[in-house]
Amino acid sequence: MPQVFSPARVAALTERERADYIAQRPRSAALAAGSGHLLSGVPMHWMRDWGTPFPLYIDHAQGAQCVDVDGHVYTDFCLGDTGAMFGHSPAPVAAAIAERAARGYSCMLPGADANWVGAHLAERFGLPVWQIATTATDANRFVLRWARGLSGRPVVVVFDGCYHGTVDDTLVRQDADGRTVARSGLVGQVADLGQYTRVVPFNDLAALHAALAPGDVACVLTEPALTNIGMVLPDEGFLAGVRQLTRQHGALLVIDETHTISTGYAGYSGQIGLEPDMLVLGKPIAGGLPAAVYGMSAEVAARAEALLASKPDGHSGMGTTLSANLFTLAAMRANLEQVMTRDAYALTTPRAARLADALRALFARHRLPWCVTQIGARCEFQFCPTPPRTGAEAEAAMDHALERLIHLSLLNQGVLITPFHNMMLVCPDTPETAITALVDGVEAVLEALRG
Ligand SMILES: Cc1ncc(COP(=O)(O)O)c(C=O)c1O
Repeated sequence: MPQVFSPARVAALTERERADYIAQRPRSAALAAGSGHLLSGVPMHWMRDWGTPFPLYIDHAQGAQCVDVDGHVYTDFCLGDTGAMFGHSPAPVAAAIAERAARGYSCMLPGADANWVGAHLAERFGLPVWQIATTATDANRFVLRWARGLSGRPVVVVFDGCYHGTVDDTLVRQDADGRTVARSGLVGQVADLGQYTRVVPFNDLAALHAALAPGDVACVLTEPALTNIGMVLPDEGFLAGVRQLTRQHGALLVIDETHTISTGYAGYSGQIGLEPDMLVLGKPIAGGLPAAVYGMSAEVAARAEALLASKPDGHSGMGTTLSANLFTLAAMRANLEQVMTRDAYALTTPRAARLADALRALFARHRLPWCVTQIGARCEFQFCPTPPRTGAEAEAAMDHALERLIHLSLLNQGVLITPFHNMMLVCPDTPETAITALVDGVEAVLEALRG
């Protein structure tokens, strides 16, 4: 990535923003100082990786806003990295949770909401049979187990730059020699992940064909567009090619819509009529409560029922105690019925398009070789002139020092965007003025960088 701004200038401005952050947040600082009984001072150690001097402690959040313990109000374009993509604490979900909370919710047995949710998901996504999990990570783990169990084939194919949660089989990258290796930074990895996972570059049908050719692949698991390494959109015809090749080689196509549900009512695959064999959706499905779903075609479901009927007694290796409890299903129903609606998408997609256009105009005005991509409510800016076509290209375009400066400066200006890359989500409550504030905030950083 050609560096547009001097690293020394980026470092100096980052120091200034860090000092500002510290000075403005005495209560967050005090909480951080008293966090010695938490590993790395936080409930999940990676919460320290946001790039702030100490974590931002949140007091409450509503709609498109969150408020920290020091009383600063932020317009939230991170939205829990999609968990709250329809806004924080949507009233119907909050009411369903409150109603269920008083009547018991963890019985390890279904209630009436489960049937409603199953029927709704079937109608929405065109896959007739569904299961519930607690996180998208779990749902992905379970679909891989199903795919292997149903096919008797051991190998899973994913695309380079993918992220599907902390699912061992998918925590891989392609190295310079084209080999599948464990992602850097992985802790405690014992098994050779390259043994049963094959990584191929996104947008490369020839490589996918080669990966499928041995006939040992249970499934291809992918997002329709990569969204966790910056954004990588599919080339025209790529996903249709993936569908055709998976059918040709007898591998299931599993589509993870956890982030690309930003595209529209039935996700990216619904928008283009992709017809996956299985589909995973986590994060926003129950309004941001821990919940996920996975669906399957009639054919996959019939094979799954046959497998359950014929396998020896004992644990299938799928399902967890607290999944699909009455609480989760009540929240999911309220969310699907009243929050995650066509009307919500009709609001968010044009608003995100305005954000994307405004950022493009900003970068053009500043003659910056940066691009902006958008899928529905989700936008991303990347430090490269044209949208990357592979995960490797997207990774090469990253500049973590510059990204951290932009994020921290935005935070100090009351705007929160997703950490680790430059992703922004717009929810139905995001006001137009917040979009202007975000773009002005980025411009302020650019002007400071130009000195
Ligand atoms: C596409 C995709 N799938 C799955 C996951 C895992 O979600 P969770 O961390 O909620 O299990 C993520 C998380 O970022 C994701 O982006």
